Amino acid sequence: MSIKFNPENLTFKLDTCSTSYVIQVNRYGYLMHNYYGALVSDDALEYLNFAQRHSSHFPRVEMENKEIPFFSKSVHRMEYSTNGCGDFRASALSILRENGTADTDIKYVSHKIYAGKPAIEGQPATYAADDEATTLEITCIDSVSLAEVTLFYTVFENLAAMTRHAIVKNTSDKVMNIQRVLSACVDFHDARDMDFIHLYGSWSKERRFERMPLIHGAQSVASKMGCSSHMHNPFIALASHDATEDFGDVYGFNLVYTGNFLASADMDPDGGARVLIGINPEGFNWRLEPGEYFVAPEAVMVYSNAGLGGMSRTFHKLYRNNLCRGEWKNKRRPILVNNWEATYFNFDEEKLFDIAKTASELGIEMLVMDDGWFGDRNSDRSALGDWFVNEEKLKGGLGKLVERVNGIGLKFGIWFEPEMVSRDSELFRAHPDWAIQTPGRPMSIARHQYVLDMARADVRDYLFDCIKKVMDSANIAYIKWDFNRSLTEVGSATVGAERQSEVFHRYVLGLYELLERLLTAYPHLLLEGCASGGGRFDPAWLYYSPQFWTSDDTDAIERLEIQYGTSMCYPTSAVGAHVSACPNHQTARISPLKTRGNVAMAGTFGYELDLTKLTDEEKEIVKAQCDEYRKYYDVINYGELYRLISPWKDRTRCAWSYVSEDKREALVTYVVMRSSIYDLHYIRLKGLDPEKRYLCEQTGVVLSGDTLMNAGLCLHERLRDFDSSVYHFTAID
Ligand code: DGJ
Repeated sequence: MSIKFNPENLTFKLDTCSTSYVIQVNRYGYLMHNYYGALVSDDALEYLNFAQRHSSHFPRVEMENKEIPFFSKSVHRMEYSTNGCGDFRASALSILRENGTADTDIKYVSHKIYAGKPAIEGQPATYAADDEATTLEITCIDSVSLAEVTLFYTVFENLAAMTRHAIVKNTSDKVMNIQRVLSACVDFHDARDMDFIHLYGSWSKERRFERMPLIHGAQSVASKMGCSSHMHNPFIALASHDATEDFGDVYGFNLVYTGNFLASADMDPDGGARVLIGINPEGFNWRLEPGEYFVAPEAVMVYSNAGLGGMSRTFHKLYRNNLCRGEWKNKRRPILVNNWEATYFNFDEEKLFDIAKTASELGIEMLVMDDGWFGDRNSDRSALGDWFVNEEKLKGGLGKLVERVNGIGLKFGIWFEPEMVSRDSELFRAHPDWAIQTPGRPMSIARHQYVLDMARADVRDYLFDCIKKVMDSANIAYIKWDFNRSLTEVGSATVGAERQSEVFHRYVLGLYELLERLLTAYPHLLLEGCASGGGRFDPAWLYYSPQFWTSDDTDAIERLEIQYGTSMCYPTSAVGAHVSACPNHQTARISPLKTRGNVAMAGTFGYELDLTKLTDEEKEIVKAQCDEYRKYYDVINYGELYRLISPWKDRTRCAWSYVSEDKREALVTYVVMRSSIYDLHYIRLKGLDPEKRYLCEQTGVVLSGDTLMNAGLCLHERLRDFDSSVYHFTAID
């Protein structure tokens, strides 16, 4: 059992293969956080929660009218902090009582430990078989409000990962309101030598890596856009100052949620820090009638003492094996061509078929028809919501086109943006009330569209029926599910005034319900998430769609940074990456087709250009790329990622590699962002077996793993700006 309870000192010890997490119930009934880090022996570790700092100014708990001398919630490390009863740091939980007060105080009542991991009702979460994970539930009560709080912890046996979430139940006979309920809270004893890492961005510039020292006070990232957003990802890490890609302590936190989130680290004056991650409390309130309960989403925590690389590889494995589901989880995904950048809205069935024909000659396996196939949709100004085929564009209908495409050996995929409605659409004219809105205030418009109220069952039924009709009319293997604006003026006709602050979260739950319904009805469907590029690249989506369109910026050089940041916690098998035309439509940069291919191969590979316009020479390159991707598919998608040179390091080059789990195969990619006369000639590889000898396919040279890792791989070619090279190694003994 990897979770142990010691009844003598009331300690819980939660071990993964390489980490320990220790909680203790103190003598007053409070849950204390004693330790999180590398695996330690079964000691209680209460000395780690000894607080030096005591003065009569710190509020102390009174019990039976006696002041408890050395226990103050503001200086000890609390396991799940609450509001208003003496812990002045940011709180994980705040419950507003019917009398208008919001002080909250929870104490241990009971616990359960069991094999496996429970599902989270109606929400995405990691999953595990009984022999893969162990779960601890600790139930606490606020004896005044009668809010019952159950904290869930699951530890994985073979991964340095644990997950957490909380359920709050109203066991009183009065209404209560949850003002904040974070999914995880971790108090660090000494964070003075730690950095705060996060991924920020914007449209076409998603998930840029930023690292800075923790300072006193709060550092946080958040979204209040209704989606996880381009601006910030629901991921943060604390890393020791000296942690590198390969060495040092790193704690990663990621939220399995696709709505408004908060992730923060708050350093107190004495150098301790509290990390919180969960639903953004801003704009959130959840009303609990007597007997009702609220389930907070899952937070994932990963500890690595092998630097950022170790942390990323744990996230990748966990998400590939214990979050992605269904048929496509570990099945080879088709190499696709998407017509968006090839045609935008200007296409008909012949144009699509021409692209498909060329695609089939080149070894591409699926045609994806993007935006513009439905209703009166000839620009982004109209028709979202009118999910019936535009037969002026697709003469003979969808079935005929799909049959022709299937007839030449390609699968067929289609684009939807279900959550949206254009102002100029039949749907909006018929149901203006289906758009999210608040009484009396004009709705903000973005990309000429409004957001449908996903909290409404009738809206979801309409969308499901529309998608079903399309799915049943043709052999559709894939859907790209897009989302191109954020939520504003958020209100819903489904709930009364007292529940309007629940609508952001109800929207997300409605979305989950619709996605689940779709995947249940079409279990063979491959879903790819998208949100104006990567505006919702988060673990919640990976539960439904094993791949996500990473960014609308398809420029190979820009993608180096975007994909590098994305790789912090998301696996390569989830990273939608396509080769597009040059000059690039977003940046006007011209880069070699070879490099565009090499960079897109660090993801779910495809093309996004008019294949019919390629020269014969380019077609040969595309053909070779598709063969290469198929050949290296396993090591790219199931191997372990080692980042070798960060694109931010000196902004001149970038390199990464994949190593198969048995260390018999490796693939190294090297890209020059800006060449210089004294270019680097060696890259030190990582993750190989030092005792094995490896044959390099491209150079024919045999070198041992220790030489490649310690002396390095010699780069023979002289590369110009934006050139790249790939080296494939196989063990020969
Ligand atoms: C935004 C997506 O990111 C693009 O790939 C494309 O599907 C457009 N929407 C279509 O409107």
